[in-house]
Amino acid sequence: MPAKPTPSVLRLTVNGRSHDVTAAPETPLIYILRNDLGLNGPKFGCGLGECGACTVLIDGVAARSCVIPAGACTGRAIVTLEGLGGRDNPDPVQQAFIDEQAAQCGYCLNGMIMTAKALLTRNPHPTETEIAEALRYNLCRCGTHVEILRAVLRAAGGSAA
Ligand code: FES
Repeated sequence: MPAKPTPSVLRLTVNGRSHDVTAAPETPLIYILRNDLGLNGPKFGCGLGECGACTVLIDGVAARSCVIPAGACTGRAIVTLEGLGGRDNPDPVQQAFIDEQAAQCGYCLNGMIMTAKALLTRNPHPTETEIAEALRYNLCRCGTHVEILRAVLRAAGGSAA
């Protein structure tokens, strides 16, 4: 029988604030974010690292919080959707998604926005092909890909063809 994971105190920096959380280091980061810190931007979809709904930024890179152990995130800068902005101060990427009405059910949006944010940080003026490639592994069952593409182009200061 495998040994039971041993909780320890993990210091996590999330959205610029430091949090001490008692959890087994193997705990997937998404559980800490949602259950301990009340940050519900990251969504639990597949739980297998395949759909992208749980995406957060770790040191500026898009990462899937359902498969990343919380213990691997100490000393790193974690940013969730809430850390980008909110209703009164949306990030330009969030505002572009609102302007383009790039949602149907909305479940994928966290992952789309966080992945787009990471893309635009490393490449402020991506082509449509580069955007499509960056979002390729973020799944949307509603089929709002055209609006999502437009939103990212808008956030980048461009426009869809
Ligand atoms: Fe993490 Fe699907 S819930 S990739």
